[in-house]
Amino acid sequence: MSASASLFPQEQQFLDAFQQALDSQKFERLILSQYKGELEHLEKMTLRVISLQNEKMLSCLYRYKTQDVTKNFPLADAVAFVRSLLPSCKQANLFTAEEELQLKKNKKKAMLTVSKSQSDSKKMMNDAQGHDRAKQRYVDQDSFFLQPLGITDAKMQIIPSMARKWKQINKFVEICAGALEQLKKTDQPLHVVDFGSGKGYLTFALYDYLAKHQQTPFVTGVELNPKMVAFCQEVAVQSHFSQLDFFQGDVRTYNPAQLDVMIALHACDVATDFAIHTGIRLNAQMIMCAPCCHKELRPQLTAPKVLAPMLQFGIHAGQQAEMLTDTIRALLLKAYGYETKVFEFVALEHTSKNKMILAVKRKDYAAPDQAVLAQIQALKEMYGIQKHSLELLLNDQWDQQDIGCKC
Ligand SMILES: C[S@@+](CC[C@H](N)C(=O)[O-])C[C@H]1O[C@@H](n2cnc3c(N)ncnc32)[C@H](O)[C@@H]1O
Repeated sequence: MSASASLFPQEQQFLDAFQQALDSQKFERLILSQYKGELEHLEKMTLRVISLQNEKMLSCLYRYKTQDVTKNFPLADAVAFVRSLLPSCKQANLFTAEEELQLKKNKKKAMLTVSKSQSDSKKMMNDAQGHDRAKQRYVDQDSFFLQPLGITDAKMQIIPSMARKWKQINKFVEICAGALEQLKKTDQPLHVVDFGSGKGYLTFALYDYLAKHQQTPFVTGVELNPKMVAFCQEVAVQSHFSQLDFFQGDVRTYNPAQLDVMIALHACDVATDFAIHTGIRLNAQMIMCAPCCHKELRPQLTAPKVLAPMLQFGIHAGQQAEMLTDTIRALLLKAYGYETKVFEFVALEHTSKNKMILAVKRKDYAAPDQAVLAQIQALKEMYGIQKHSLELLLNDQWDQQDIGCKC
């Protein structure tokens, strides 16, 4: 269909409403569906307004049968763009802050219905007021990559056994998105490395989020298991995520030249320390990790006299070793110039490994903070700790050992 194809009056009304929503800044999104045009396997298009390098653009997500493609257009061309596509789509939905317009057509007639908005902003408001329990998601449930990763089925519904993973992925992307807001804005691509990327749930989700939200991402997953790496490479190709790749090998052997964001979700044991060390060494702007198992300090732990009655119970000694491991990680990040938070990132019922260390580089950092390093020393002395991998790495005192892990 060409841009000059004649329109039903209802289509023109729909376009006028779109123009008005853009002009009044009440536009939220527009969906063109049941596409019957020339682009093979195209199912629908979702349009939003985004900001790219401080310029407002119309971003169109093309949903094909097996892939998603995003293209951005000048906002000034938005109405002409939708006009050119409207004749090829049997349905169009416009969502504004105040109303929702639904256009449905067949060859003979068109029908336009207008209803009060159940728009994103209202839904979020309702959610906050407790009227609507629907949660805002940071990952689009109908993203193609979720299917090969086994999160959604062929109908793009969450597979029940993956509901917890789905929640975790969304939470992780939500936290990451919030922290990214604090970083210096540049025109340069953002280099993200996901250490211990496993099946790539987070790696794909973050790439997808960044690509849809103004950033040009270069994302690399680092993973020991060759089968997982081959699988992820394949899914990246299928998803047309051209700047997402996977490095097969030990985190110790991965030496990128540049790193803006270091993430590690449940990277086993001291693999987390290597990941944090790479982040600090390369001056990453943001370091975000959810530690996994904690094996290093437990055998070294000796109970201070007053704590001996408490730590005689194995479970308490394990918990103490875990807390000490992560405290030293957080303090080292603090000492090396990072604003650091430690918090629960998803409710315990979703995963027991629910602790997040989030660190954002301070702009005024000059040299390691000796007072914080002294706090670490005092803690180590109190618990009889001889070695902590992150500290050794930062002091160039690391000696080789196998850190592969099967957990
Ligand atoms: C618990 S999984 C987490 C996977 C993924 N981050 C997620 O949350 O879905 C930990 C992954 O780290 C990988 N891993 C463990 N030690 C590693 C090392 N030294 N170098 C690279 N990958 C490692 C494991 O093979 C595993 O796939």
